[in-house]
Amino acid sequence: MISVKKLTKTYINGEIITPVLRGIDMEIQKGEFVAIMGKSGAGKSTLLYQISLLDKPTEGEVIVGDVDILKLSETERTDFRLRKLGYIFQDYALVPELTAEENVAIPLLMQGAHIDDAKKQARQIIDDIDMVGKYTNRPNQLSGGQQQRISIARAIVQQPEILFADEPTANLDSASSEQVIELMHDLHQKGQTIVMVTHEPEYTKYCDRIIYLEDGKIVSNDYKINT
Ligand SMILES: Nc1ncnc2c1ncn2[C@@H]1O[C@H](COP(=O)(O)OP(=O)(O)OP(=O)(O)O)[C@@H](O)[C@H]1O
Ligand SMILES: [Mg+2]
Repeated sequence: MISVKKLTKTYINGEIITPVLRGIDMEIQKGEFVAIMGKSGAGKSTLLYQISLLDKPTEGEVIVGDVDILKLSETERTDFRLRKLGYIFQDYALVPELTAEENVAIPLLMQGAHIDDAKKQARQIIDDIDMVGKYTNRPNQLSGGQQQRISIARAIVQQPEILFADEPTANLDSASSEQVIELMHDLHQKGQTIVMVTHEPEYTKYCDRIIYLEDGKIVSNDYKINT
């Protein structure tokens, strides 16, 4: 599903050159739930952004699905992100002026769905994530955990091939974090491929594999022995 070879990423801001990823090789299979871990500044988010088409690597090869993503034009990249990928961020990234169902409907509307159909589908997903009746709440009328679940609903509404999450539980208390992780576990059980960056070892309990980064390199990349 994802194949990365000799990936490097160096940020250049004027005179300041920051090498962040220093030769990453990895594969992620369809249906895997993989965690990326490592200390702050190790390059976890940077790696996630390169493989999820939110940023462009300095060097190396990134294949997602069957597509060499470095060969796509800007329009093709945008289209690929919209159709094939879902994103969850630590700050939820919901549109504050829109209701829960409108936020969830955004990806469908961007692909040309009719507003009534999009909202109907959005409500279905909101029901599926146990938030029946919260359709018309705005983000500030939802708890942090509920906002994150709405952001997950938005990420999966058009059945992405891969779901990317950058520290999805970082701003949540332990009960809400648990709910978010259980929801991701359910999605994984249904076959969703998930790549999640996290600091917290307890939230990797459902992951098939943990990739550890240190200073821009992979230092371990093992299948977990589930006990
Ligand atoms: N746009 C950028 N320009 C310059 N340097 C950057 C940029 N983004 C990240 N960096 C640097 O790259 C390094 C890795 O950052 P990254 O955000 O990938 O770390 P991380 O492992 O996700 O850390 P955290 O756990 O704190 O989120 C850091 O030294 C950071 O300062
Ligand atoms: Mg990060």
